[in-house]
Amino acid sequence: MDYDFAILDFADESDEAVARRRGWIGAVLRGFREDRPEDALIDRWVGHYRADDVTVRGAWLPEGEFGAGPMPVATYASLDKTLNAGRELLPLRMVTDVTTSATHRRRGLLRRMIEDDLADAVAQGVPMAALTASEATIYGRWGFGAATLRKGVELNTSPGFGFRSFVDTGRVELVEPADAWPHVKAVFDTFHARQRGSVEWPVQYEDMHSAAFDFESGSANRKLRGAVHLDAAGEVDGFVLFKHGEKNSVKVDEMVALTPEAQLAFWSFLGHMDRVTTVTFNLFHPEDPVVWALTDMNRVKTTEVEEFLWLRLLDVPRCLAARPWAADGTVVLEVDDAQGHASGRYELTTSGGVATVSRTDRPADVRLTAETLASLYLGEVEVRRMHHAGRVEGAPDAVARLGAMADLSDPPYSLTGF
Ligand SMILES: CC(C)(COP(=O)(O)OP(=O)(O)OC[C@H]1O[C@@H](n2cnc3c(N)ncnc32)[C@H](O)[C@@H]1OP(=O)(O)O)[C@@H](O)C(=O)NCCC(=O)NCCS
Repeated sequence: MDYDFAILDFADESDEAVARRRGWIGAVLRGFREDRPEDALIDRWVGHYRADDVTVRGAWLPEGEFGAGPMPVATYASLDKTLNAGRELLPLRMVTDVTTSATHRRRGLLRRMIEDDLADAVAQGVPMAALTASEATIYGRWGFGAATLRKGVELNTSPGFGFRSFVDTGRVELVEPADAWPHVKAVFDTFHARQRGSVEWPVQYEDMHSAAFDFESGSANRKLRGAVHLDAAGEVDGFVLFKHGEKNSVKVDEMVALTPEAQLAFWSFLGHMDRVTTVTFNLFHPEDPVVWALTDMNRVKTTEVEEFLWLRLLDVPRCLAARPWAADGTVVLEVDDAQGHASGRYELTTSGGVATVSRTDRPADVRLTAETLASLYLGEVEVRRMHHAGRVEGAPDAVARLGAMADLSDPPYSLTGF
């Protein structure tokens, strides 16, 4: 079929443009098996996408074809923010709203839109792309690799929950989410500037975290609760946003603590609420100290571990120079990339934690795909483990050399779903 591929202008107020953007939003929700949108939700969505200058792509049935109309049969969107790569905030093309109608799947509609977008990102000098996926099997073919993992935990906070010796020199205070928002944003900005793997929040996070609008109910979020932690000097150094659920449970939506003390203070606050016996959080920080601070470490159970942030290197030298390196050395990498953006042989030299990277004709020491390079990028997985998984090829000494250079002691972490 001769699909009509187009990029929508969300600022266009002509009748046709308004109908198409309503149809596009309806198609995204249909693709994610959500309800049809009401006007309030459409208005918020359009406002966010204008503010973030989102590029909105779709495929429509050609005019005259049965079923043709303002609703597309495939949707795709992307926007540019930043990734904390460890040494700098790297420009990032964030991919979202990927859906293809159940009656037009597997005809190359996603392929066409994602390949167009990645080519545009390269032309615009954006060095890296990212997404959070609904299935882990889709995006490797386009050079995306799982780059951070997400860990879900459940804390049993029934009587007996307690700490060995924790004393909070500051305090936790409940604050209405709307009032907490400026603090939430300031804490996140500090966290984003220093946490490798963090992805900047799109504009809709303000509505979500201030409780102004809930995309599930289509109105203000009346369930969301917020608290902040103040340090001994009275400065806000963390926030937690949560909801009370069934059976005396609390579900943490988002939590960022800038100090270990603030982190333990939040767990103490959540764990000591009266008539709360279970606290869950599905974005547990890999270095959260709580397990080792409790009198009973078995109170914390891991409920799930899944891939979370997917990355795709588009400009290999630029990306590799933006991350930190653990040891000095030189290695020639050969990258295999079906779309070609990352393909080639690169001489990577690290010195004092900084890489210089240039294209080379020298023989390769280590060979890997663009997908595997993306999974190694933030240091979520060691080079040796990827070699054992059959995904990094090379002589043992070359693999060990790359591992010494690339493996980092502190884990990456991202909490931005999009
Ligand atoms: C995922 C989805 C967008 C795929 O769209 P599509 O237009 O059918 O994809 P394409 O026809 O362009 O497929 C291109 C390639 O990806 C593969 N692919 C597509 N979806 C896949 C999936 N869910 N699992 C594994 N492979 C998949 C195709 O087999 C094809 O492979 P090939 O070219 O190597 O043979 C569509 O299935 C969908 O809307 N799913 C529900 C919503 C969703 O999960 N969105 C993803 C959000 S992150």
